[in-house]
Amino acid sequence: MKNIVVLVSGGGTNLQALIDAQKRGELAAGNITCVISSTPNAYALTRAADNGISTEVIRRRDFSSFDEYDEALTQLLQSKNADVIVLAGFMTILGKKVISAFENRIINIHPALIPSFCGEGYYGLRVHEEALKKGVKVTGATAHFVNEVCDGGPIIIQKAVEVQNGDTPEILQKRVMEQAEWKILPRAVALFCEDKIKVIGNKTEILD
Ligand code: GAR
Repeated sequence: MKNIVVLVSGGGTNLQALIDAQKRGELAAGNITCVISSTPNAYALTRAADNGISTEVIRRRDFSSFDEYDEALTQLLQSKNADVIVLAGFMTILGKKVISAFENRIINIHPALIPSFCGEGYYGLRVHEEALKKGVKVTGATAHFVNEVCDGGPIIIQKAVEVQNGDTPEILQKRVMEQAEWKILPRAVALFCEDKIKVIGNKTEILD
């Protein structure tokens, strides 16, 4: 059984999708053991508490340097015996230490089809604003491993979502969450827990 630790910053709808998947028995080889937030106000913390999952808060601004924060987050995750770490709307950049301590064991959900609308500065609603500005007809979501390149690690699953006439960033965000993120993130985590993701260089092969 793998320990799943989920990192959050906001509403936590992706965390909820993971909790729901666990309740349906879809994460049979894993267990969500801890939720860690970058802010004490995240509603995701309430979702965790409501489901009996332990919580922690670690704020970047409580550390005088980024290196100290990186070290503290690494130690916190190690103290939780994390086998897999899920970034479910976690809005603080990860440092080198934590990324190398958990190589190919950190899964992020990004609300676009990487390599479109990704990289530094592309998070949350901003991603959908840019997609609408460009006029793409198809967008989607990507579950991928985290490496030192922002949104550049091996892709695990992608799912496309159509853009529709009259979409606002908020409407598109909701459709991408419902049709893509909430489906592929729990699936990627389940595949990881079942040892069904083979990483070959910067690509993955799903052994399903
Ligand atoms: C989600 O749309 C997630 O894909 C995005 O933030 C939102 C968090 O929502 N993540 C990024 O943009 C990362 N670059 P949630 O708190 O309701 O899961």
